[in-house]
Amino acid sequence: MTEPKKHIHLAAHFPGVNNTTVWADPRSGSQIDFSSFEHLARTAERGTFDFFFLAEGLRLREHKGRIHDLDVVGRPESITLLNALAAVTDRLGLAATVNATFNEPYETARRFASLDHLSGGRAAWNVVTSPDAFTGENFRRGGYLDRGDRYSRAAEFVATARQLWDSWPPGGEPRPFAHHGRHFRVEGTFGVPRSPQGHPVVIQAGDSGEGREFAASCADVAFTRHGTLEAGRAFYADVKGRLAAYGREPGDLKIMPGVTFVLGDTAAEAQEKAAEIRHRQISPQNAILALEQVWGRDLSGYDPDGPLPDIDPDPESALAQGRVKIADPFATAAKWRALSEAKGLSIRQTVIENTGRQSFIGTPQTVAAELDAFVQGGAADGFILVPHLTPGGLDDFVDQVVPLLRERGAFRTEYGGSTLRSHLGLHTPA
Ligand SMILES: Cc1cc2nc3c(=O)[nH]c(=O)nc-3n(C[C@H](O)[C@H](O)[C@H](O)COP(=O)(O)O)c2cc1C
Repeated sequence: MTEPKKHIHLAAHFPGVNNTTVWADPRSGSQIDFSSFEHLARTAERGTFDFFFLAEGLRLREHKGRIHDLDVVGRPESITLLNALAAVTDRLGLAATVNATFNEPYETARRFASLDHLSGGRAAWNVVTSPDAFTGENFRRGGYLDRGDRYSRAAEFVATARQLWDSWPPGGEPRPFAHHGRHFRVEGTFGVPRSPQGHPVVIQAGDSGEGREFAASCADVAFTRHGTLEAGRAFYADVKGRLAAYGREPGDLKIMPGVTFVLGDTAAEAQEKAAEIRHRQISPQNAILALEQVWGRDLSGYDPDGPLPDIDPDPESALAQGRVKIADPFATAAKWRALSEAKGLSIRQTVIENTGRQSFIGTPQTVAAELDAFVQGGAADGFILVPHLTPGGLDDFVDQVVPLLRERGAFRTEYGGSTLRSHLGLHTPA
């Protein structure tokens, strides 16, 4: 007997704050105006996507002591924004990234339960764990947390939030809660009645062994960067393999890599478009900036069209602040150098090759077939799509690829239920 075909899960990432968006494109809009968020969310809902996703940065990134170019306009706070989007959408899930290091369980549980009520059961919380002192300066205690403690705090944070959500039974009165743990000591009664999903959906993003263990122990969705077939399969097998230890089934955790796509009428046209987009994402200035992040040194004197510097990286550098640190800059620099030498690449070309996130390039037919093959082949349960235009970058995908996925029987033709848990095929906690 053949296995039934797996359905693909799709989410839309609003790409405003990184160089994925080609800001120089005349079609690029605002990353602040509500109309931008509304456009992308409505497109995702038209495509019957599972959810709309917002990343979060808690401090404006800096580069060489100045606010990073792409952060100068800032961004609105995510949950506030999602509550507004709840009013202009009906079924689309609404996912906000909220850090477990710089927040408190009671307040976070309250905000997500509120979003779940106001949206009719569509809230999701992407739990991230950045512990860096630079971000911490915006909060109470500078460095705030040892790096090694961030996942133990995150796990206790999620468990405490669930305890608060559970303290108010469906249709009943709130029961007192008390949690006395290593990171939190909270007790009282919870102010928000039980929300439609009971527990808003929990997403995890982080790649270390501890991050994977955290995902396996308590997340409903893992957001990853493993967007190739081979890396996706390895990650998928590794994380799914960790579930049994927590009494969980493989279907209890959906694995969704963040991926990009470029569509063309022919394969050659799509490749050409993709190369042009990469070129515009990595301008000459951007190339030097990316290099400086790896090397940790001021490299403004180097020619972006010339060879890589032959000096060593500075591992103690604080030149780029507010970004995930490169774990081993020496190894990264060596890898970049080897590639540059082997292929005769300039600085800009090397950065283009090494920071590429373009995953699915082709005609709508080949992209639909490839996405389906990833899911049927155990490399993902679905995808968080990161378009390269804000906010119209998903339009072509929804108009051209979604119908083909539906024809293949790989994607829903309409929403089956009204909650995000129902879209994701997750059970609702009793
Ligand atoms: C796909 C992905 C998306 C992430 N998105 C965010 C984000 O929006 N905001 C944030 O502060 N950290 C984000 N992070 C950072 C993680 O929460 C975490 O701090 C980082 O990956 C280091 O943890 P690790 O050692 O487990 O990978 C993201 C990480 C990954 C892998």
